[in-house]
Amino acid sequence: METLFRVASNSLFSSVQNPQNQTFLRFPTSGAVQFSSNSKNWVSLNPQKFDYLQPFVVSQNRVSACVNNDEKESLNNGVRKKNLAVFVSGGGSNFRAVHLAILNGDVNGQFVVLVTNKHDCGGARYARENGIPVIIYPNTKNEPDGLSSNDLVAALSMYKIDFILLAGYQKLIPTELIRAYPNSILNIHPSLLPAFGGKGYYGKKVHKAVIASGARYSGPTIHFVDENYDMGRILAQRIVPVLANDTAEELAARVLCQEHKMYAEVAAAVCEDRVIWREDGVPIIRSKANPNHYS
Ligand code: GRF
Repeated sequence: METLFRVASNSLFSSVQNPQNQTFLRFPTSGAVQFSSNSKNWVSLNPQKFDYLQPFVVSQNRVSACVNNDEKESLNNGVRKKNLAVFVSGGGSNFRAVHLAILNGDVNGQFVVLVTNKHDCGGARYARENGIPVIIYPNTKNEPDGLSSNDLVAALSMYKIDFILLAGYQKLIPTELIRAYPNSILNIHPSLLPAFGGKGYYGKKVHKAVIASGARYSGPTIHFVDENYDMGRILAQRIVPVLANDTAEELAARVLCQEHKMYAEVAAAVCEDRVIWREDGVPIIRSKANPNHYS
């Protein structure tokens, strides 16, 4: 029996991941599964106890081996936890902030998969350490294990994703995915949109532009993602001051601190179905403490 796989556990499932490639399987922690061999392109299993296995194997750039579709729903006091996917390209501090909020019981959701265009970015490493499967997208020369757009949509649909959180993902989201998840994809941007958004406004460039404009306030925006980049409906914003002698780094750090709080609060709201769509198409959040109050 091969032992090339790393096994990590979360509350309900274990992930089995080959550190050399992105192959993984998930199965109930209690299940007895034997692995007979693996190769760079697939995992083969000892054909016993197959009913324990989770629905699929993502193997290199293929999705295959549907085994069992009866994943038990994860419940929190009888309320189904929402399945979240997160897309990350960098350190993933926003992803980690939301994950911590989940672990603290503040968000009725669970990260079931992370998607990245950089297999070794900080966010992907954190996901693996926490038993969260990692999918590479897109397929490029640098990332030959990446999925195609169609396979990405297929993989996410097998994870029964409720919401997708973009958290510093630097590649375009494929139209197929946006169409498959209407009003279900959120992005966080480090300025008060619609100012300083769109093409060319990313990373430090955003904060430099804010400082150069003379704006006295900045802050993060969370918005729904539609087919126009940085243009989807705004869901939440926070204000931070721009100080007279701020550097882009100092302003970025002040904004990022609010990003972490806001993404955790917004994730809590979406997972509790507290997002209400106003008649004019603007999404607003119903307060948990005071259900008559919206922001
Ligand atoms: C954040 O500033 C976010 O607003 C932007 O990308 C950055 C991601 O940072 N979309 P991190 O990877 O979450 O630390």
